[in-house]
Amino acid sequence: MDLRPASPADLPALTDAFRATFGAAPWNEAWTDESARAALGDLLAMPRSAALVAWDGAVCAGAVLGRDQVRDSFLSHEVQEMFVRPERQRGGVGRALLDAHLAAAAARGVTNVSLLTARESPAEAFYSHLGFRRAGRMVLLVRP
Ligand SMILES: CC(C)(COP(=O)(O)OP(=O)(O)OC[C@H]1O[C@@H](n2cnc3c(N)ncnc32)[C@H](O)[C@@H]1OP(=O)(O)O)[C@@H](O)C(=O)NCCC(=O)NCCS
Repeated sequence: MDLRPASPADLPALTDAFRATFGAAPWNEAWTDESARAALGDLLAMPRSAALVAWDGAVCAGAVLGRDQVRDSFLSHEVQEMFVRPERQRGGVGRALLDAHLAAAAARGVTNVSLLTARESPAEAFYSHLGFRRAGRMVLLVRP
């Protein structure tokens, strides 16, 4: 497995891995090729975005995408998408991706990292395992 920063040319392979991951349990989301490509393409095009891709040859095994945000006196990073193909999960790909992604963020001067995920999900278990903790002061508001 090779880890490389994402480029726009990687979009088709990223889209394929993203749909394979989030179309499966526990998310069972209804991404189309078009919607997944647009969502990932937008993330890659954002200012201060950073993305790392895990490759099995020409096949994308997984990826992590996020963006840095300038705060008053520090630089933060938000992980916006992270996925590993179902058949490659629980084999260390996610840890390798996130460790390298966060090391690169630290080298850019990032001191705070955040992300949103579903409570009590396998993803929360994964992130907890890698040192993430629930933050108490924020609440997600929606206007349905
Ligand atoms: C969450 C996800 C990215 C983790 O990637 P992964 O390659 O399966 O994770 P790893 O194999 O690198 O696991 C790293 C550590 O987390 C632990 N872990 C991973 N998944 C876990 C789970 N479901 N429950 C408990 N621990 C878990 C592993 O045991 C491992 O610990 P170890 O290194 O001490 O053995 C991957 O499962 C995935 O893509 N899931 C579906 C999409 C998703 O939920 N994305 C995040 C949405 S915000």
